[in-house]
Amino acid sequence: MAHKTKTLNFDEFYQDLYPMIWDQLKEALLADEKQMIRNCFGAPQVITQQTVANQPLYESSLGKLSHSKNSDHLRQYYIMDPASYYCAHFLGAKTGEVILDMCAAPGGKSLIILEKLGNSGQLWANEISKSRRERLTQVIRDYVPHTLRELIFVKGKDGLQYGIQLPEHFDRVLVDAPCSSERHVLKNPEELKKWGPKRTKKLAGIQYGLLCSAALACKQGGTIVYSTCSLSPLENDGVVEKFLKKKSDQVELVQESHQYFSQTEYGLISLPHEHKIGPIYMAKFLKKN
Ligand SMILES: C[S@@+](CC[C@H](N)C(=O)[O-])C[C@H]1O[C@@H](n2cnc3c(N)ncnc32)[C@H](O)[C@@H]1O
Repeated sequence: MAHKTKTLNFDEFYQDLYPMIWDQLKEALLADEKQMIRNCFGAPQVITQQTVANQPLYESSLGKLSHSKNSDHLRQYYIMDPASYYCAHFLGAKTGEVILDMCAAPGGKSLIILEKLGNSGQLWANEISKSRRERLTQVIRDYVPHTLRELIFVKGKDGLQYGIQLPEHFDRVLVDAPCSSERHVLKNPEELKKWGPKRTKKLAGIQYGLLCSAALACKQGGTIVYSTCSLSPLENDGVVEKFLKKKSDQVELVQESHQYFSQTEYGLISLPHEHKIGPIYMAKFLKKN
């Protein structure tokens, strides 16, 4: 995983990583993001999973629907990237489980995990940033039925603390880590100016720490999912490779295929020029007994 990191600008750096496809990929990243509108907590079905995958939708055409409220004044439809939707399902949450969403705001994946719990279990939705945590709390107010609110706990810890403070506490942990988020960088000239090749290395270090904390916080026999919306292999397979190398006494990789993702060495990735959704990378681990 050695990359030239000294003098490359953003384009050169990613051209180097994706030599055959960077132009197509960049064009897809710069295009409008494909979104799905997801019916939450039993709202009438407006779109099937199949339709979403084949023909992702634009927020602009469905925004009104997402703001429609039911008789309990709850919003019914959440707009998100279909790849994020699949990622939340990949965690495999089940009724009655205790789950940590370590990096939860704004909360799209938390809503899906909570639905999977049915009416028992716990979801700890953690977010370190105060402003983003407020957004997460608002999403919960807007979408989660009152009868289910006692299952969700919003926390504001640094994810690194969970491994030390709550070892073997959770049945499943999702680490949807802070990452390079190249789509966002490409679309923001100010962000593009600030970008440097050191950023991805620094983030990979942070992500590795969060993943190690998740491994400690997960019960034996439990599941950990690591995900990013980065294109940088350093933040995806690179983090996983180091994790497997250093923590093979604690975890093992679970390799699965997915209709809307391509396989990488250790995980799965959806890329917008190819799958029309994403980018999202995800990898799954079993905590050993
Ligand atoms: C990719 S976003 C999460 C998106 C979210 N899972 C969703 O689906 O809506 C990553 C989040 O991690 C938060 N974060 C960054 N460092 C963190 C840390 N050390 N502990 C917990 N959260 C952190 C960021 O503020 C950001 O909101």
